[in-house]
Amino acid sequence: MNSFGFKAKKALEKSRETIAEFMNAEASEFIFTGTATEANNLVLKGHAFKEGKSNCHIAVSSIDHDCVLLSAKWLEQLGFRITILPVDKYGLLNLDALEKILEEKVTLVSVVHGNNEIGTVQPIEEIVKRCHEHGALFHTDAVQSFGKLAIDVKKTEIDFMTVNAHKLYGPKGIGGLFKRTQKELEPLIHGGGHEFGLRSGTENIPAIVGFAKAVELRKDEMVPEAIRLTRMRDKLIKAILEIEDTYLNGHPSQRLTNNANFRFSYIEGEAVVLSLDTEGIAASSGSACSSKSAEPSHVLLAIGLRPEEARGSLRISIGKYNTEEDIDYIIQVLLKIVKRIRAISPLKH
Ligand SMILES: Cc1ncc(COP(=O)(O)O)c(C=O)c1O
Repeated sequence: MNSFGFKAKKALEKSRETIAEFMNAEASEFIFTGTATEANNLVLKGHAFKEGKSNCHIAVSSIDHDCVLLSAKWLEQLGFRITILPVDKYGLLNLDALEKILEEKVTLVSVVHGNNEIGTVQPIEEIVKRCHEHGALFHTDAVQSFGKLAIDVKKTEIDFMTVNAHKLYGPKGIGGLFKRTQKELEPLIHGGGHEFGLRSGTENIPAIVGFAKAVELRKDEMVPEAIRLTRMRDKLIKAILEIEDTYLNGHPSQRLTNNANFRFSYIEGEAVVLSLDTEGIAASSGSACSSKSAEPSHVLLAIGLRPEEARGSLRISIGKYNTEEDIDYIIQVLLKIVKRIRAISPLKH
C-alpha cells in the first residue's frame, strides 16, 4: 500500500474505533454502509439469505421505518416467513404478541428504537431479553436515538444496530451497522471484500471521517443537550395540549427528547404545515422520509388512529440549534394558526 492509501486506511480505522467506542462495541463489530436504509436492508435480507427459506422467520414492528417494512414485505413475496408485530396506542411494542410469536421459533426480531414520527422509545433491554430467551436474534434501527440516548451494545446485548451520521449533525449519505462479531449475515454487495467482506466498494472516507467527528462532538454534549431538549419539548407539549380537541401522539414520557407530535381535531396537518412554513417554522404532517406520499402515515394508523386523525397530525422536531425563544415563538404561532384554520374548517361546523 502506498502512503496515500495508508493515510486513508488509517483515517477509516480511527473513525471506526471512535464510533464503535461510543456504543461500547469493538471496532471489528462496526461496518460502514452508504445509509441507514442500506444497513437495515443488509440486516433483514442478509439474515434471510443466510438462514434460507426453510429456517428463516423474521418479525418486525408495525411502526418500523419503511426501509425495514418494505424489505420484510419484499422477502415475504420471495417466500420467506415474515410477521408484523403490533404496538399499543402509544406505539410501544405489544410484548404479549412478541412472546406468542417467539414460541413459534423466530430467527430475527427487528424493532425501531426511537420512532421517527411519534418519538416513542421502546424498552429495548426487555425486548432483547425475551428474544434471546427464545433463541431469536435482535436488531434495532437506532437512527433516531443514537447520540440522543446512551446505548451500550454490550450491556443491552443487541445483535445488530443501525445508525447514521446525519441525525447527529454529521454528513448525509453515510450510515453504519453494529454487528456482533459471530452473528452472520450474507453480503448484498459483492466485490473487493471491503468492510469485512460485508459491503464491497471503496469507502467514502470524507463522509466516514465526518461521521466520526460528529460522534466525537456528541460525546460531551449528549447529556446536557438531552436535559435542555426535554425541558423545551415538554414546555411545547404542555402549551399546545391546552388547545381544545388536541392530543399528543406517542408516549407521554418514553419518547425521544426532540420529538413532539400532535393531533388536532377538525383540521388537516398539511394546512398547518403550510401556514407554519410562511412563519419560518419547518414541521411535517407525516414522516419526512416519505412526505411525497399523501397516504396517512403507517405509524399513526398502527397506533390506532383513523385516517382523518392521522391526517390531522403534526410533527415538530427540535434540535441543538433551537432556543427557548424558538419554543415560545412556535407556541405563539401554532395557537394562532390552529384557531384560524379551525374557524374556517368545514369539519368543525
Ligand atoms: C428511523 C429511521 N430509520 C432509517 C432512516 C433512513 O436513514 P438514511 O436516510 O440514512 O437511509 C431514517 C431516516 O430518517 C429514520 O428516521
